Amino acid sequence: MSHHTPEPASAGDSTSPAPTPDAAGKTRVVILFGGRSGEHGISVATAGGVMSAIDRTKYEVVPIGITPKGQWVIAADEPERWAITDGKAAEVPESAAEVVLPLTVGDAALRVLEPGRVPSALADVDVVFPLLHGPYGEDGTVQGLLELADARYVGSGVLASAVGMDKHFMKMVFAGQGLPIGPYAVIKPGDWDRRRDIVLQSVEPLGLPLFVKPARAGSSLGVSRVDSLDDLDAAVEEARRHDPKVIVEAGIAGREIECAVLGGRGGERPRASLPGEILVTDETKNGFYDYEAKYFDEAAVQLSCPADLPDHVIKEVQEIAVRTFEAVGAEGLARVDVFVTPEDQVVVNEINTMPGFTPFSMYPRMWDASGLSYPDLIDELIQLALERPTGLR
Ligand SMILES: Nc1ncnc2c1ncn2[C@@H]1O[C@H](COP(=O)(O)OP(=O)(O)O)[C@@H](O)[C@H]1O
Ligand SMILES: [Mg+2]
Repeated sequence: MSHHTPEPASAGDSTSPAPTPDAAGKTRVVILFGGRSGEHGISVATAGGVMSAIDRTKYEVVPIGITPKGQWVIAADEPERWAITDGKAAEVPESAAEVVLPLTVGDAALRVLEPGRVPSALADVDVVFPLLHGPYGEDGTVQGLLELADARYVGSGVLASAVGMDKHFMKMVFAGQGLPIGPYAVIKPGDWDRRRDIVLQSVEPLGLPLFVKPARAGSSLGVSRVDSLDDLDAAVEEARRHDPKVIVEAGIAGREIECAVLGGRGGERPRASLPGEILVTDETKNGFYDYEAKYFDEAAVQLSCPADLPDHVIKEVQEIAVRTFEAVGAEGLARVDVFVTPEDQVVVNEINTMPGFTPFSMYPRMWDASGLSYPDLIDELIQLALERPTGLR
């Protein structure tokens, strides 16, 4: 964005010309990671994976970490520094030097602010790759900041990110587009505090087991399976530790299948990978794909890719995944998670606009099984972001 002429924003028009590589022929990419959510550690581990796989002959990497308190800092460009060691995820350390993004159209230089020093400018940024999960990162907030700064970035915009984060609105959008979803009820904070009887009335028809979840979390944080209504209170309270808004779903008996979707190039339809399957073994403590099984208990779960499914089911999963991606207006990447019932019925569980993205995560693995390696996937995502105009689109 170095040779930029500010223009008023208009629909479909780019407000910044597409960046061209610098004198050394490299595109400057900010890898933005960490963040305020409970998934800080996972994001940090992902950043390590991306730092080691990104094509350094093509891209110049500027790692920017966000501390758990929300401070933006220059982070080390050291993949090993950010890896999970002995089952413990690293954390972005605080720093006296804070990084800020100018919100002026036409100014793409990050500033470093340090007490007692003259603010200094980092070189212009061509594109931002947010590797953030959960609230204040995957939910449209950071995307809004990047929009205000007129910056190019990887992945979904404000609305799709927000819808993908909020399981309540996500379901309304899915239902509105005729996508297959299961029965559910929403518990808003006021109802739980003052109208508990109405809450129970809305939950009872869902039967058992139930899945109780915070509306806006991820990584299975705060999710519990409830096999008896006696346990509902505790499950709702657990979910409310993460979000005052809670969603209760009827348990779906089916295989857990995931499908990776990539935005289309040049206005083409989004592309779906071969699906993968989450195989939860008997060794999981809670009998489902919970937080521990996801990140810390290797015996508990097996990611099988490609999933062993008949061709017509694969096609159906891919078609529904692309429709789901389009339903929320996702861009760049998203993982669509479904259940496939014993009758081969596909039920959409959720869309993740910033899915797990370590080299061992399902999203990159599904693309790898479909012929696109992790480094090539990173490249494709950055190219998609560079191709798309800033402003309304
Ligand atoms: N309605 C449901 N029926 C059966 N299992 C479910 C249901 N909802 C969630 N689960 C189980 O809980 C896990 C986490 O729920 P999910 O909605 O994917 O939350 P998160 O956004 O935290 O990943 C799923 O991967 C699945 O194992
Ligand atoms: Mg999930």
